[in-house]
Amino acid sequence: MTKNLNVKKEYLLQNQELFGKEIFLDVIQKSSSFPNQLNTFKNNICNCEKCDLHKSRTNFVFGEGDKNASLLLIGEAPGAQEDLEGRPFVGRSGKLLDKILKAIDRDRFNDTYICNILKCRPPENRNPSLSEIDECKPYLNHQIKLINPKLIVTLGLVAASTLLGKDSSLKDMRNNIFYYMNYPVLVTYHPAFLLRSPSFKRNAWEDFKRIRDYIKD
Ligand code: URA
Repeated sequence: MTKNLNVKKEYLLQNQELFGKEIFLDVIQKSSSFPNQLNTFKNNICNCEKCDLHKSRTNFVFGEGDKNASLLLIGEAPGAQEDLEGRPFVGRSGKLLDKILKAIDRDRFNDTYICNILKCRPPENRNPSLSEIDECKPYLNHQIKLINPKLIVTLGLVAASTLLGKDSSLKDMRNNIFYYMNYPVLVTYHPAFLLRSPSFKRNAWEDFKRIRDYIKD
């Protein structure tokens, strides 16, 4: 293991010596098979047929917002309205999310980006299957890399456990900072859950104040 790391380090140092820091980093970035512009990336993958969800979708829901956002919000999967419009969180839970964002002085297009674990709607809004998540996750990972946020916030248990690989309850994950691909992650409730259980809005407000403070400095 240590030997392997040493070999990799030596390789990186040699390349840096040969090509210089900037060119070398550029080479690394371009080594991904996905394009390095968010819009081009979206156009490249929006006809995806990697899983069966493409058969029932109306629209591929890539995500939307500020491509240089410091705050990246990740939900579970598009619902009926999102599928119809091709935009994330535009149904009832999206309206609540917009209100929450307003309360911390931002909106979905201002220093904020919103997307989902899955880009296509599961029929009847069932939970995403593990194989659907496996197929779709590379898209999310590349999206995260391109946006390069200061903070990722997962909305609901599916997004949290997908990113963090944990089997814990949302309650246990809420008050901690985790890391995914070296990005800090905070976990909070899904707005659809808050609509069903409004007494948790108080906790969600605590979470969003922490989120606001975290991205402020
Ligand atoms: N629920 C989600 O998780 N994502 C959406 O885009 C809409 C509802």
